[in-house]
Amino acid sequence: MSLKIAFLASGRGSNVQAILNEIETGALKADVQCLISNIPEAPVLQLSQSAGIKTFCIPHRNLTREHHEAQVLEALNAFDIDYLVLAGYMRLITPEFLEHFQGEHHYRVINIHPSLLPAFPGTHAYEDAYHYGVKYAGVTVHFVDEAMDNGPILLQETFPRYDEDTLEAFKARGLALEHCLYPKALKLLSENAVQFRYNPISKRYYPEVIHHVPC
Ligand code: GRF
Repeated sequence: MSLKIAFLASGRGSNVQAILNEIETGALKADVQCLISNIPEAPVLQLSQSAGIKTFCIPHRNLTREHHEAQVLEALNAFDIDYLVLAGYMRLITPEFLEHFQGEHHYRVINIHPSLLPAFPGTHAYEDAYHYGVKYAGVTVHFVDEAMDNGPILLQETFPRYDEDTLEAFKARGLALEHCLYPKALKLLSENAVQFRYNPISKRYYPEVIHHVPC
């Protein structure tokens, strides 16, 4: 099936671009319904408009979180969306907002985070992992839940940190992995290749993927 998605993004937009590239080649069957950014000067707005996507700027400045989310929801309500895709969206999302995207065992909202969660949550994950001196870092695509950088892990892959790495080289290696991993995660969802399985020991549901080839 073709996955109907909407993006929330705040910045550069390289993950949005990577996903659009895969749609363009036909490798990923997805229809982008719209993109919303909370940052008026974010490069992702221009990128999205140039790609012919319905694009909204809904600044959060001077609004309460609830008021801002109400405006975002109002924009999203005009579309039929299977998944909300967070791509560098630098805002916490409230449980009330998530309720609008309730799926069977998870919320239909996914995020990419530049670390091996639950290590290094937060906004400076590459910097934190690099300065900690990890030997292996990674990238995580996860379903969003009520807590920040949390929720069931859909895909997760590692990349090495070499002793001679500069922070820039380390980040570039991670970003290249993000650009491979996020489209792959969406492809799995579009192909219905993600199943939630109950684990009686932890009493939680975990996503399992069928036929995943690592990046
Ligand atoms: C990426 O590193 C992503 O993992 C994180 O924010 C960054 C967004 O980059 N959540 P871009 O806007 O997709 O280029």
